[in-house]
Amino acid sequence: MPPTALLFFSLLGLAMVAQQTQEDKDRQAENEKIAAQLPDGEGKTIMVARCGACHSLARITAGRKSLKSWTNTVKVMVLNGAILESKEEAPLAQYLGDNFAPAVNVNSAPAEELATVPGLDQSLGAAIVAYREKHGEYATLDDLTKVDGFTTGLLKKVGPRLTVGVKAATPQ
Ligand code: HEC
Repeated sequence: MPPTALLFFSLLGLAMVAQQTQEDKDRQAENEKIAAQLPDGEGKTIMVARCGACHSLARITAGRKSLKSWTNTVKVMVLNGAILESKEEAPLAQYLGDNFAPAVNVNSAPAEELATVPGLDQSLGAAIVAYREKHGEYATLDDLTKVDGFTTGLLKKVGPRLTVGVKAATPQ
């Protein structure tokens, strides 16, 4: 190889390494920001330590899956190359299942399902169902504060885990 070509390829190699390092740094900074917002728990420690090496933690926090589905995702990530001790798999999946579960529909879910949302219980679940049976569907989540015992503080806490569902388009 002529010396100029050699120089060219060495510089190209250096530039590529520099770009890779910058991408790693950017992702690390983003992951630190996301981690600061995450609810505490054993699973958070595992997730922050083990899950940020290949992609942004936002890939994970954007997901809404059941415990069963998260358990499967964790196994797939181990196959992808994530380094995880086998005893870390269950607490991580549990943490993801608790915090990134599909939203429960307040217009269709039975009281028992509403009660599974952390912060709600059987009696609040029953009150949500009773209100909807009497007054019709909730148009927005804010309507929940009309339910007996449902405070705005509670709405702030559990709101992200609830949905009013997709409304059928109103005919013109
Ligand atoms: C060795 C690299 C690597 C690590 C470490 C890693 N992942 Fe992934 N992850 C991938 C790749 C590659 C994809 C995209 C391909 C795919 O979906 O399998 C992905 C995609 C995802 C997705 C989006 C796709 C889906 O199945 O919903 C989620 C969620 C996810 N990873 C969660 C995790 C969790 C949780 C951890 C920590 C246990 C983790 N990842 C650690 C490589 C990794």
